[in-house]
Amino acid sequence: MSRSDLEEVLKIERRSFRKPWSAGQFESELGNMVSRSFTLSIEEDGSQTLAAYMIFWVVHGEAHILNIAVRPEYRRRGMAAELLKAALDYMRGNMVFEVFLEVRRSNAAARGLYAKFGFKEAYERKDYYGDEDAIVMTLEL
Ligand SMILES: CC(C)(COP(=O)(O)OP(=O)(O)OC[C@H]1O[C@@H](n2cnc3c(N)ncnc32)[C@H](O)[C@@H]1OP(=O)(O)O)[C@@H](O)C(=O)NCCC(=O)NCCS
Repeated sequence: MSRSDLEEVLKIERRSFRKPWSAGQFESELGNMVSRSFTLSIEEDGSQTLAAYMIFWVVHGEAHILNIAVRPEYRRRGMAAELLKAALDYMRGNMVFEVFLEVRRSNAAARGLYAKFGFKEAYERKDYYGDEDAIVMTLEL
């Protein structure tokens, strides 16, 4: 992800989350040494459309997935799976031994995505989102 992607990223973010990140949060991730951000674009009618993105941190062999979203029109086409696979391959190549993330209890799509990649539901963080609990999911690489 680069600064020039932010306008499209923010459009997807606002359509994807009840409490979307601000432009400032994305900018701060782009300048954060431990943060990695991937985008996935598709070509349609000769032009590129940013379809999905993902942000994670790598710190001392542990990765924390902070954000992943797919443009609503392109969901259920394997885009998140492709991004997550690329991120896990990157992590394996960079000596990450454990990955974790928080997900809303009600987010069946995301929980299904992570389960498909072998993530296990480890424990919950009560009221993590202010209006809902988070499930913490982990994967050993
Ligand atoms: C969660 C999200 C990223 C999935 O993206 P996607 O590109 O549609 O997912 P994929 O097509 O790659 O699906 C991969 C797997 O995820 C699961 N999945 C995806 N959407 C699902 C849904 N609506 N219901 C149940 N499982 C779902 C399935 O296991 C699927 O595998 P399958 O197609 O073999 O059944 C997308 O729904 C999204 O952007 N949601 C809003 C943002 C969000 O909640 N992000 C996660 C924050 S933790």
